[in-house]
Amino acid sequence: MSKKFWYSLMAVLILTAVVLSACGGAATQAPAEATQPPAQGGKEVEVFSWWTGGGEAAGLEAMIKVFNTKYPDIKFINAAVAGGAGTNARAVLATRLQSGDPPDSWQGHAGQELIGTYVAGGQIQPLNDLYESEGWLKVMPETLIPLISQDGKIYSVPVNIHRANVLWYNPKILEENKIAVPTTVDEWFAAMDKLKAAGVTPLALGEQWTKMHLLETVLLGTLGAEKYNGLWNGTTDWGSAEVKTALENFQKAMTYANTDSASLSWQDAAQLVVNGDAAFNVMGDWAEGYFRELGKKPRVDYGWAPVPGTVGVFQFLSDSFVLAVGAPDPEAAVAWLKVAGSKEGQEAFNPVKGSICARTDCDKSLFGEYLQSAMDDWASNVVVGSLTHGVVANDSWKSEIDTALGLFVSNGDLAAFQTALVNACKASGPCK
Ligand code: GAL
Repeated sequence: MSKKFWYSLMAVLILTAVVLSACGGAATQAPAEATQPPAQGGKEVEVFSWWTGGGEAAGLEAMIKVFNTKYPDIKFINAAVAGGAGTNARAVLATRLQSGDPPDSWQGHAGQELIGTYVAGGQIQPLNDLYESEGWLKVMPETLIPLISQDGKIYSVPVNIHRANVLWYNPKILEENKIAVPTTVDEWFAAMDKLKAAGVTPLALGEQWTKMHLLETVLLGTLGAEKYNGLWNGTTDWGSAEVKTALENFQKAMTYANTDSASLSWQDAAQLVVNGDAAFNVMGDWAEGYFRELGKKPRVDYGWAPVPGTVGVFQFLSDSFVLAVGAPDPEAAVAWLKVAGSKEGQEAFNPVKGSICARTDCDKSLFGEYLQSAMDDWASNVVVGSLTHGVVANDSWKSEIDTALGLFVSNGDLAAFQTALVNACKASGPCK
């Protein structure tokens, strides 16, 4: 019998129970065995992510297409929850995990988010056998494996590499105002002063997480790669004068932004640049997937450069998929992971998503001009990790930074902000 039949039967039983209970009858519960449709033998995989639009959903769809061709007998359930950087999705996921209702597989960032949250919580399963059978150790970057491993166990399948420190700009606006693409923080501020005086919004900014994204890139641009890394391993003092300078730069950068940032998504903010309503936007390269989806042309409607001060540095993050402990259908979940880790899956997904493959053997010619340049930079730059997207700090540290940032955005008290950051490192990070 079809699932539809059982769902209809369930609906009738529930309705009857509700009516009886409303009438004060004793039979207020449908019989337990009738509340669940019996197993149909049909396999399905529920995959949870936050890719619901703006180029991201299209990337996911491309990978689902590969999955459907390879596994026509497994139903793919796309459980994506909207909201950039997973701010909403991760809250929904946490509730589901707490109540013992995990999706089969979900999106998690390589690094501390994965290790400090899902591995620490015993919520995901090691995948070493899969790495072995699929030969992934030969094709995944060596530098990535430690970020998804603990005690020799590998816990996720990375699908991509994204770059966080990208300055997107509107080439026409820069040209009209005779502004060269800035490479240092000072050049950037001088350019934005000029734009402001000309009546142009210099910087497009969105909701809170995009401010954290801006903060991490300005920290990197001011401190340089080594000292930036030191923030996360305890060798750079959060209370130092140089961190103060970085925070002042961040504060100054925000003065150039649109005033309605709190109500804009990352897509809204990025769109200001390609529509000619703002000159610059700092956003990860998923923005490029979005620009392409909007039909915008590279170098004509948008240009790109490393965030000022970060030339030669690639601030990275990686989306990966996991296998849940207690996955309702582990076999179907493994089928999904095989596609996520495959050359075919990654070549379908990444050119649309606006990321480069995690695998090292993808065909470069499938990618557009921007992503080809990202591949070159990934291979040659100094690589550091992103805060906002889970690489360098665990969830508790990141959430303390987020709280401090929220206060700072509303009260502008820089000394209090720095003190809160010092304390956050002491409470959840490596600072003593
Ligand atoms: C990041 C994620 C990217 C992209 C972005 C905006 O955290 O890694 O794949 O989805 O958020 O939503």
